[in-house]
Formats: sequence, C-alpha cells, structure tokens
Amino acid sequence: MSEAVRTILQGDGAAAGEPGREAEAGFLWDFWYPAARSSEIRGNKLVTAMLLEVPLVLGRTAEGKAFAMRDSCPHRGMPLSYGHFDGQTVECSYHGWRFDACTARCVEVPSLSSQDKLKVDRIFAGHYPCEERDGTVWVYMASRDRRAVDDSTRTRAPETGPDAPALPVFSKKYKITHLACDLPSHVDQGIIGLMDPAHGPFVHQSWFWRSRHSIHEKQKQFEPIPYGFRMSPHSPSSNSAPYQLLKRITGEGVTTTIDFVLPNMRLEEIHSGKMWFSSRATVTPVRRDLCRIDFVAAWNLPFLPAFLFRMFGKTFLRQDQETMIRQAEGLKHDPHLMLIDDADRPAKWYFGLKANLLESRRTGTKMEHPMTGPVTLRWRS
Ligand code: FES
Ligand SMILES: [Fe+2]
Repeated sequence: MSEAVRTILQGDGAAAGEPGREAEAGFLWDFWYPAARSSEIRGNKLVTAMLLEVPLVLGRTAEGKAFAMRDSCPHRGMPLSYGHFDGQTVECSYHGWRFDACTARCVEVPSLSSQDKLKVDRIFAGHYPCEERDGTVWVYMASRDRRAVDDSTRTRAPETGPDAPALPVFSKKYKITHLACDLPSHVDQGIIGLMDPAHGPFVHQSWFWRSRHSIHEKQKQFEPIPYGFRMSPHSPSSNSAPYQLLKRITGEGVTTTIDFVLPNMRLEEIHSGKMWFSSRATVTPVRRDLCRIDFVAAWNLPFLPAFLFRMFGKTFLRQDQETMIRQAEGLKHDPHLMLIDDADRPAKWYFGLKANLLESRRTGTKMEHPMTGPVTLRWRS
C-alpha cells in the first residue's frame, strides 16, 4: 500500500484488526468478491484469477458447479492451474497428487507404496467457497484465521455465511450486460474514485452526457444503512440528458437511489413508471497496486439496446481508467492527500466504515456506524 493511502487510513483512525501482511495491504477479508465471468469457465478448462493477492484456480465440475482453489499445490507449491482437470479432480502437474475439486481434499498421492502410512485424505489444498450470480463467479475470501480453523476441523469454509450478492432486477424480462477495466491503484483509491461526485464535469465531459458548463450546486440527502450509506431516493441530475429522455418517454417522474456497501459495492436503481435500470459497480482488490472495476447493468428500457449502452459505458469507464492511470503516476511519489467537505464526505464515510468494521472484528463488539443519522451534503458538479 502506498504511503498516501496509509496516511488517509491512519488519519481516519483505522485500527488494523488483522495481523501482519493482510492488514498492511488494506484489504477486507471475509467478503464475496467477483473473480471471473461465468462464461470464461467452460468444459475442463482451469482458469486463473487473483483476489486480495491470493492466486486462485477456478473451474467447473462435470455437474456444472464452479469451484475455486488456491493456485498452489500443498506438496511443493506448483500452481495447480498447470495441472489436469477431469471434471471431478485436479491433478498436479509435478508429482500427480489429485484433489477433489469441490472439497480440495487430496484423493491420491501416486508415489505412496504399500508400506506408507500417510493419510492422504488429511491433506487439503486451499479452498474457497464459490458461487455464480448474474454471470459472475464470486469467491468468498475467508481470512487467514478463519481458514486455519476450517483446516483444523477439516471442513469447508463457511457453509452458513452470507449469500453471494445478486443484482436486483424488477421484471421477468430484461437486458443485462457487463463491463470491466483494470485500475493501477490500491482498491481504496478505486473506491473513492467511484463515489466521488466532483470529478464528473471534468472527467466525464461527453456530448451525450453533459458539458463542463452545466456545473451547478447540488444538495443530496444521505442516510446510514448496514455496512454502508445511501443517497436517498431523489430525482436525478437535471443536467444529464439520458434521464431527461427517460422522463419524456414514460411521462412519469424518475427516481434514483444509490447505495454504497462494504467491502466495495455501489448499487444504483433508477425507476420511472414500469421502467427500471439497475446497476452494480464493484472495485475488487487484485493486488495492493491493482484493482478491477466490474460494472453489471440490467434494464427493461425498450429503447436502450445493449450495444448502445456498452458503447456509452465503455467511454465512461475509459475516462475513469485514464484518469486513474495518470493519478497513479502522482501517487508513486507518496504525496500528502486531502479529503474536503462536502464533496469528499462519502470517501470519509468509506474509510470510517472500513476502520470501524476492522475494529469491531478485532474487539468482537458491535460495529459502530460513522454516520449518526441522515445528512444533507452540498457540492457543485
Ligand atoms: S508439487 Fe504438486 S504434486 Fe508435488
Ligand atoms: Fe467516474
């Protein structure tokens, strides 16, 4: 983690609840993170991914169940992704140890002779819960402590944990699409970039969206929600053309609600009469100097074909990505950073939520929310 990010974290009183390397990287463990697209995991192919600096190998069993293992053989560390998968077991390419894909339990060590006493079924590769929702493969990144407990009892990591997140949808028929891009920064920078209202007029100037001169004063109501905060339902910005179009088509008011929820998720819902649009952006830590934005959107607006949405969406993401590539150049030199009121208040809440969550995990007490109640923020954008 860069000194700059550390400065922000410490400035907001982040109590590192997790020991050693994990805390230092500034990652939040014990949450679901998107690891891959469902469509990438086909047949007996083994696919690699990295989450929170953990190398993973993903695949799909013959029954169609996605699985995730640490991409490292417990024998001598060979990446299991170089091995062979037959639809049920993963065979390491080095000495041929085989692991059941769903439990990561070792089922065969070929070099053992009839004299050997080694209990093969006591050996496990690293294993992570894995679920698919709206075309995304989610992996539950259990913390090291949790994994140690699970290993000692020889059970899989939490069977009873929270469900993997699903995108809210509001009708039977809808279109859905996904966009992604990498950002060369720590996840905290990616997240505060995602919730930052003040960069719009400078970074996202487009003929179809808005011009720099449409900047005006705004005031929005925010309220605390579990693990996050909500921009209360409101009529969206009057300087954004698509919302104006929607209003004209349905002849009804447009309301939008935006939530931020730990560890990394921005959810937006737009409703106008029977029409709706729902999106989820997540910023996923890959390494401490690399994160990825995944943007999934679904809608039932008949006038919005997926290709058109993707075209606009890609432009937006590219604008953010180019900005963050440039920002990363500056962050290399560990500058002092500022968070100002009110435009940066959501960023402060994010750091507050993160710090309070770590503190509550460390002390085993209830998590305090950094907001005491609804707040109105004002800024120009
Ligand atoms: S390193 Fe995998 S079987 Fe030896
Ligand atoms: Fe942006």
